[in-house]
Amino acid sequence: MSGKFMPKTPVQLDPPKDDPISKEELKKCDGVQSDKIFIGIKGTVFDVSLNQNAYGVGKGYHALVGRDASRALGKSSLKPVDTDYAVSADYSVLNEKELKVLDDWFTFFSNRYNVVGKVVD
Ligand code: HEM
Repeated sequence: MSGKFMPKTPVQLDPPKDDPISKEELKKCDGVQSDKIFIGIKGTVFDVSLNQNAYGVGKGYHALVGRDASRALGKSSLKPVDTDYAVSADYSVLNEKELKVLDDWFTFFSNRYNVVGKVVD
């Protein structure tokens, strides 16, 4: 396994799931409409429900949940212009450096959170 971005305490992860998850379904997994909190990165959906401190209602990174947050993560942005549902999944606007940041976030999430499926339209 990659040594990059490993959590301080090892996380026991489940085998990754490949279930199709619609954008509509993903949107409901925001810790409000559901207890579940999901974040997509490049179409892969991670279950971050256990990290309420970061992603729960009113917490710093709540703007990233219930959507594919690739654009915001790549741009290190929590601004609505990057987190809005209409644009958040589209990372075609990222430059090379931002794409690298996005891939690093993918690694970070892969090391910590279970993959619960893939976003489908
Ligand atoms: C002043 C600016 C910021 C500070 C001081 C800050 C600080 C931190 C700290 C201390 C952590 C915890 C690291 C750890 O658990 O090892 C963290 C995690 C994180 N930050 Fe930031 N951050 C800032 C801005 C941002 C921005 C703009 C984004 C937008 C993408 C962002 C996204 C994240 C994410 C996704 C995590 C991972 C949370 C997790 O799942 O554990 N941060 N940040």
